[in-house]
Amino acid sequence: MEQTFVMIKPDGVQRNLVGEIISRFERKGLRLSALKMLNVTKEMAYEHYKEHVGKPFFDDLVAYIMSGPVVAMVWEGFDAVQAARSIIGATDPKKADPGSIRGMFATDISRNIIHGADSPDSAKREIKIYF
Ligand code: RTP
Ligand code: MG
Repeated sequence: MEQTFVMIKPDGVQRNLVGEIISRFERKGLRLSALKMLNVTKEMAYEHYKEHVGKPFFDDLVAYIMSGPVVAMVWEGFDAVQAARSIIGATDPKKADPGSIRGMFATDISRNIIHGADSPDSAKREIKIYF
Protein backbone atom coordinates (compact mmCIF):
# COMPACT_ATOMS: atom_id res chain seq x y z
CA MET A 1 0.00 0.00 0.00
CA GLU A 2 1.28 3.45 -0.97
CA GLN A 3 0.69 6.71 0.87
CA THR A 4 0.22 10.14 -0.67
CA PHE A 5 -0.01 13.65 0.72
CA VAL A 6 -2.94 15.86 -0.30
CA MET A 7 -3.75 19.37 0.88
CA ILE A 8 -6.94 21.39 0.34
CA LYS A 9 -5.58 24.90 -0.23
CA PRO A 10 -7.11 28.03 1.39
CA ASP A 11 -9.47 28.72 -1.54
CA GLY A 12 -10.87 25.18 -1.33
CA VAL A 13 -11.58 25.62 2.39
CA GLN A 14 -13.06 29.12 1.95
CA ARG A 15 -15.36 27.86 -0.81
CA ASN A 16 -16.74 25.06 1.40
CA LEU A 17 -15.35 22.31 -0.85
CA VAL A 18 -13.78 20.19 1.94
CA GLY A 19 -16.61 17.64 2.10
CA GLU A 20 -16.93 17.38 -1.70
CA ILE A 21 -13.18 16.78 -2.08
CA ILE A 22 -12.93 14.22 0.73
CA SER A 23 -15.94 12.40 -0.71
CA ARG A 24 -14.26 12.08 -4.12
CA PHE A 25 -11.14 10.52 -2.59
CA GLU A 26 -13.27 8.09 -0.56
CA ARG A 27 -15.32 7.10 -3.59
CA LYS A 28 -12.12 6.56 -5.61
CA GLY A 29 -11.28 3.83 -3.10
CA LEU A 30 -8.48 5.51 -1.18
CA ARG A 31 -8.39 5.29 2.60
CA LEU A 32 -8.05 8.37 4.82
CA SER A 33 -5.12 7.78 7.15
CA ALA A 34 -4.55 11.26 8.70
CA LEU A 35 -6.20 14.68 8.55
CA LYS A 36 -5.33 18.04 10.08
CA MET A 37 -6.59 21.62 9.65
CA LEU A 38 -3.84 24.17 10.12
CA ASN A 39 -2.36 27.49 9.10
CA VAL A 40 0.79 27.04 6.99
CA THR A 41 3.79 29.01 8.34
CA LYS A 42 6.36 30.70 6.10
CA GLU A 43 8.90 28.01 7.06
CA MET A 44 6.50 25.21 6.07
CA ALA A 45 5.59 26.96 2.80
CA TYR A 46 9.26 27.40 1.81
CA GLU A 47 10.04 23.77 2.67
CA HIS A 48 6.99 22.45 0.83
CA TYR A 49 7.62 24.46 -2.35
CA LYS A 50 11.45 24.63 -2.28
CA GLU A 51 11.62 23.19 -5.83
CA HIS A 52 9.91 26.40 -7.02
CA VAL A 53 12.21 28.93 -5.24
CA GLY A 54 13.23 31.63 -7.73
CA LYS A 55 10.35 31.04 -10.16
CA PRO A 56 8.21 34.09 -11.05
CA PHE A 57 5.14 32.72 -9.26
CA PHE A 58 6.95 31.68 -6.03
CA ASP A 59 6.13 34.72 -3.84
CA ASP A 60 2.46 34.64 -4.88
CA LEU A 61 2.36 30.87 -4.25
CA VAL A 62 3.70 31.28 -0.69
CA ALA A 63 1.26 34.15 0.05
CA TYR A 64 -1.62 32.07 -1.37
CA ILE A 65 -0.86 28.97 0.68
CA MET A 66 -0.59 31.11 3.85
CA SER A 67 -3.78 33.11 3.15
CA GLY A 68 -6.06 30.96 5.32
CA PRO A 69 -6.42 27.54 6.92
CA VAL A 70 -5.68 24.43 4.84
CA VAL A 71 -6.69 20.80 5.30
CA ALA A 72 -3.67 18.45 5.17
CA MET A 73 -4.36 14.76 4.60
CA VAL A 74 -2.63 11.42 4.11
CA TRP A 75 -4.46 9.01 1.80
CA GLU A 76 -3.38 5.44 1.20
CA GLY A 77 -4.12 2.65 -1.24
CA PHE A 78 -2.87 0.95 -4.41
CA ASP A 79 -0.89 3.44 -6.51
CA ALA A 80 -2.21 6.20 -4.24
CA VAL A 81 0.05 8.96 -5.65
CA GLN A 82 -1.15 8.49 -9.24
CA ALA A 83 -4.75 7.81 -8.21
CA ALA A 84 -4.84 11.11 -6.31
CA ARG A 85 -3.16 13.08 -9.14
CA SER A 86 -5.72 11.73 -11.60
CA ILE A 87 -8.76 12.81 -9.60
CA ILE A 88 -7.09 16.18 -8.84
CA GLY A 89 -6.43 16.96 -12.53
CA ALA A 90 -3.78 19.02 -14.34
CA THR A 91 -2.06 21.95 -12.59
CA ASP A 92 -3.82 24.51 -14.81
CA PRO A 93 -7.58 24.11 -14.24
CA LYS A 94 -8.26 25.34 -17.79
CA LYS A 95 -6.41 22.26 -19.10
CA ALA A 96 -7.64 19.84 -16.44
CA ASP A 97 -10.09 17.07 -17.32
CA PRO A 98 -13.56 18.62 -16.75
CA GLY A 99 -14.47 15.75 -14.40
CA SER A 100 -11.42 16.28 -12.17
CA ILE A 101 -11.46 18.39 -9.01
CA ARG A 102 -9.51 21.26 -10.61
CA GLY A 103 -11.44 20.90 -13.88
CA MET A 104 -14.77 21.12 -12.12
CA PHE A 105 -14.13 23.69 -9.38
CA ALA A 106 -11.34 26.03 -10.51
CA THR A 107 -10.39 28.33 -13.38
CA ASP A 108 -7.04 29.87 -12.36
CA ILE A 109 -3.64 28.12 -12.08
CA SER A 110 -2.73 30.34 -9.13
CA ARG A 111 -5.96 29.42 -7.27
CA ASN A 112 -6.23 25.72 -8.04
CA ILE A 113 -7.88 24.50 -4.81
CA ILE A 114 -5.80 21.43 -3.99
CA HIS A 115 -2.28 20.00 -3.85
CA GLY A 116 -1.24 16.39 -4.43
CA ALA A 117 2.28 14.95 -4.03
CA ASP A 118 3.89 14.12 -7.40
CA SER A 119 5.81 10.96 -6.34
CA PRO A 120 6.05 8.55 -3.38
CA ASP A 121 9.30 10.28 -2.30
CA SER A 122 7.64 13.73 -2.43
CA ALA A 123 4.75 12.31 -0.42
CA LYS A 124 7.11 11.07 2.34
CA ARG A 125 8.92 14.43 2.41
CA GLU A 126 5.67 16.44 2.55
CA ILE A 127 4.05 14.22 5.20
CA LYS A 128 7.05 14.99 7.46
CA ILE A 129 6.43 18.74 7.05
CA TYR A 130 2.76 18.62 8.03
CA PHE A 131 2.43 15.64 10.43
P1 RTP B 1 0.73 21.05 -6.54
O1 RTP B 1 2.21 20.88 -6.26
O2 RTP B 1 0.12 22.25 -5.85
O3 RTP B 1 -0.05 19.79 -6.37
O4 RTP B 1 0.57 21.37 -8.08
P2 RTP B 1 1.27 20.67 -9.28
O5 RTP B 1 2.22 19.59 -8.83
O6 RTP B 1 0.17 20.28 -10.23
O7 RTP B 1 2.08 21.89 -9.87
P3 RTP B 1 3.53 22.45 -9.52
O8 RTP B 1 4.28 22.60 -10.78
O9 RTP B 1 4.14 21.64 -8.41
O10 RTP B 1 3.20 23.90 -8.99
C1 RTP B 1 2.87 24.11 -7.64
C2 RTP B 1 1.78 25.15 -7.54
O11 RTP B 1 2.30 26.42 -7.92
C3 RTP B 1 1.26 27.19 -8.51
N1 RTP B 1 1.68 27.57 -9.84
N2 RTP B 1 1.43 28.72 -10.37
N3 RTP B 1 1.28 30.96 -12.11
C4 RTP B 1 1.89 29.87 -12.52
O12 RTP B 1 2.38 29.77 -13.61
C5 RTP B 1 1.95 28.73 -11.59
N4 RTP B 1 2.54 27.57 -11.85
C6 RTP B 1 2.37 26.82 -10.73
C7 RTP B 1 0.01 26.34 -8.54
O13 RTP B 1 -0.75 26.63 -7.36
C8 RTP B 1 0.58 24.93 -8.45
O14 RTP B 1 -0.38 24.05 -7.91
MG1 MG C 1 3.71 19.90 -7.38
